[in-house]
Amino acid sequence: MNEPHTDINIKDFILKSFKEAKPLSVEPCKTLYADEMVPSDKHNHCSKHPFARSQVFNVPIKKSELLVISGAEGTNNKNIIKITLNTKELGLEWEPGDTIGILPTNSDKDVEFLLNRLDALASADYEILSNAGPLTSGCSVRQILRDRLSLRSILKKQFLSALGDYCGDNEEKMFLKCLSSKEATSIYNELIINKRLTLLDILKICPSCKPPIEFLSKHLPSLLARPYSIANSPLVNSNEISIVFSLLNEKPGPGVTTSMLSKKSEENNPSVFMYLRESNTFRYTIEDYGKNQIFIAIGTGLAPFLGFLQHKEEIKKQSLSKTEAPGQSWLFVGATSEEAVIGRDQLLKWQSLNVLNKFVEAHSRCQTSVFKYVQDALMKYSHEIFEFLMTSDATLYLCADGGGEITKSIEGALADIIKNGMHLQEVNEAMQVLKEFKTNGKYKLDLWL
Ligand SMILES: Cc1cc2nc3c(=O)[nH]c(=O)nc-3n(C[C@H](O)[C@H](O)[C@H](O)COP(=O)(O)OP(=O)(O)OC[C@H]3O[C@@H](n4cnc5c(N)ncnc54)[C@H](O)[C@@H]3O)c2cc1C
Ligand SMILES: NC(=O)c1ccc[n+]([C@@H]2O[C@H](COP(=O)([O-])OP(=O)(O)OC[C@H]3O[C@@H](n4cnc5c(N)ncnc54)[C@H](OP(=O)(O)O)[C@@H]3O)[C@@H](O)[C@H]2O)c1
Repeated sequence: MNEPHTDINIKDFILKSFKEAKPLSVEPCKTLYADEMVPSDKHNHCSKHPFARSQVFNVPIKKSELLVISGAEGTNNKNIIKITLNTKELGLEWEPGDTIGILPTNSDKDVEFLLNRLDALASADYEILSNAGPLTSGCSVRQILRDRLSLRSILKKQFLSALGDYCGDNEEKMFLKCLSSKEATSIYNELIINKRLTLLDILKICPSCKPPIEFLSKHLPSLLARPYSIANSPLVNSNEISIVFSLLNEKPGPGVTTSMLSKKSEENNPSVFMYLRESNTFRYTIEDYGKNQIFIAIGTGLAPFLGFLQHKEEIKKQSLSKTEAPGQSWLFVGATSEEAVIGRDQLLKWQSLNVLNKFVEAHSRCQTSVFKYVQDALMKYSHEIFEFLMTSDATLYLCADGGGEITKSIEGALADIIKNGMHLQEVNEAMQVLKEFKTNGKYKLDLWL
């Protein structure tokens, strides 16, 4: 995790005059505890998780592999890790393109810090009987802090204002009240949005601040499951699910789930709570075997396509499709370097076996790469891509980031390809065609927010 910014001098951020935001309230209540300790490995997962189509299982991690080491030549500051889950006992049915939800937990370090600050160490493991808000029945304070609350989410002004009321020190109180005011919006943007100070950082900056568990439980957002794409085919082994993820080793620091997953590799007999998510149309099934596809992937966005191609190879090997001739599969990948293209050796092997019929890479941090970004490669093959895409059963798949610039840049290139191929006057018309492709299932996206 990124280090807290405890070096800031709060006096520098208190304005002479400001009007604090109306603080969030919490009903006065007293938490009652049972005499029973709750087992610490019990992960409370009664609530319905987003897009769940199975129950939550505690699944053993069979293998954890470091595929790319952060900082290796030509890579950015990210490790890429593959985890294989043993799902043998669960009887799950899934296809490549499906996703699983992983239930994160906050780190022991963060939880211990909060328990200490809340003076809750002595009662941390006892079952709460009542009165600590809707989230809490049947578990302990430790479990609430570990499994249920998002401790690193962006703090709202009203929350900061309320935190001020829990400070013994007047200067710390003024700092938080000021941070919540309209007048200090630029300070809020600097500290909370840009520097990403979290609740934990704020508590370190304000040592006298002791919010009660009832307040945190009521007003912090829930810690939600994170989706991961399945990167293997059930035809090879239906008792295993693999996922691939990247762990950010530079600011703003690794995320909660990716940190948790990477630490698991150091444990004996590690396991993780997961569930199968509902399927959508971003998948490769036996029906797709005779059809053509163009796959476009950025970084770990290659993960689902590894499952697609493994599935295609296996359908061929086991003669599972009524269609004798397989369709053509083209893959365009953007990564920082050759080393960062996950499963590259396997991709080359699939190319030699004609499972993969075109494989073009762009390496953004390698001086000698032919293409910097994947859209440069797409533009180079513009004519071929257009002809291929226009075959009646060809489908275009894109797996990239949802919120940022990458998808926009790639769709810009795709629109140019369509504009040139269809001899359209305006890019907007080509964007409209891409939109229609999305509607009729010719263009499928898996975007990671
Ligand atoms: C349908 C779907 C499928 C997905 N499949 C995968 C997958 O197969 N593999 C995969 O790695 N992710 C996948 N994701 C993203 C994944 O769900 C998480 O969002 C991601 O792993 C970060 O989770 P976290 O809890 O570690 O980070 P959080 O604690 O949620 O923190 C997220 C914040 O930290 C930063 N951050 C954290 N990690 C990274 C990173 N590696 N690169 C850039 N910024 C980062 C970002 O700024 C982000 O705002 C998928 C998302 C969706 C919606
Ligand atoms: N929200 C999250 O929690 C989360 C989690 C995982 C990934 N992601 C996002 O998902 C994407 C892939 O992440 P990753 O870790 O798998 O890969 P990665 O190692 O970060 O690689 C991303 C690749 O895309 C390139 N790129 C940057 N801007 C681009 C653009 N405008 N058009 C095309 N390519 C561009 C990068 O080039 P440079 O060398 O120029 O950087 C790099 O080669 C990233 O955008 C990442 O931020 C988000």
